[in-house]
Amino acid sequence: ATGDAVAGENVFSKCKACHSIVDADGEAIVKGGRNGPNLYGLYTRQAGGEEDFGRKYGKSLVEAGENGLTWDEASFVSYVADPREFLREILDDKKARSKMSFKLGDEKDAKDVWAYLVSVGPE
Ligand code: HEM
Repeated sequence: ATGDAVAGENVFSKCKACHSIVDADGEAIVKGGRNGPNLYGLYTRQAGGEEDFGRKYGKSLVEAGENGLTWDEASFVSYVADPREFLREILDDKKARSKMSFKLGDEKDAKDVWAYLVSVGPE
């Protein structure tokens, strides 16, 4: 990751309303909302692949994951900048929808959050 994890921890306060970070033992690294999926280990999984969130995912994100979308710095940065537009582009579907309407347009902030998520594990 190229971002600054310490700065990213601060930026993550914007995500906390809807996202927690809970490790594999159920230990909360960040106690946040449950409107969105747990973001622990995001870089190890395919889009729409957090099992506990399961059927709460929107159809478009699940489809993108099934088509092979995984999370890395580049996909993450463009997703969070505009989730709906990102899904419309990669699915080539003008009607694709996102259940996340929040946008994090600042690229440095997005890279910093990515670095933070990588820094909290898993290894
Ligand atoms: C999904 C990141 C803020 C609600 C996601 C995903 C990521 C993400 C990477 C896809 C997860 C996956 O594939 O398992 C972030 C970051 C945020 C943020 C970094 C802050 C900068 C928010 C906020 C809300 C929210 C504030 C609620 C107001 C959701 C929901 C989904 C989601 C509902 C599922 C989307 C769908 O099924 O279409 N978020 N998020 N997020 N997020 Fe966020």
